Amino acid sequence: MKTPVQNTIIASALATLLFSCSKPETTPIPQAVPYSEQQVVQPQSVEKVPEVSASNDGSKHEGLKLIEGTDCLTCHKIDSKLIGPSYQEVAAKYTDADLDMLAQKIIDGGKGNWGEIPMTPHTGLSKENARQMVKYILSLKK
Ligand code: HEC
Repeated sequence: MKTPVQNTIIASALATLLFSCSKPETTPIPQAVPYSEQQVVQPQSVEKVPEVSASNDGSKHEGLKLIEGTDCLTCHKIDSKLIGPSYQEVAAKYTDADLDMLAQKIIDGGKGNWGEIPMTPHTGLSKENARQMVKYILSLKK
């Protein structure tokens, strides 16, 4: 059992701890800078850091943005087979010479190159956007 005296000791010990933690850091002595220079206010850079920065040039591929904006990823994954082949498999199988054919295939849909499951057509998709998607997919080639 704790006596009131013990409680007081604990309480004051805690108070001392808290107090010593909240003590402000001593500010470093400012550098001797000529007064006029100190007055110059440097504009702060407010550039946003891109969200996806892992191992690429910092900006997201236009084709990937388009792919993420439609239903592609319900059937395709970048690195493993889902309903359709993984984009890495597609990249390994084709070259830039197949760009137009693949873009048209995304628009028309179809089956036969990977199996009997058909890809749904994407008739609302422009050829230009489909080509962007294929360019992104082919960029995954290792
Ligand atoms: C309903 C599921 C489904 C959706 C949605 C889908 N795909 Fe596919 N995709 C497939 C299947 C299945 C294949 C394999 C077709 C085959 O065997 O020829 C395929 C094949 C492909 C191929 C390779 C074509 C070939 O002939 O080798 C590319 C490129 C592709 N898809 C891109 C896309 C893109 C980009 C989108 C989004 C606009 C998309 N897919 C949406 C199921 C889908």
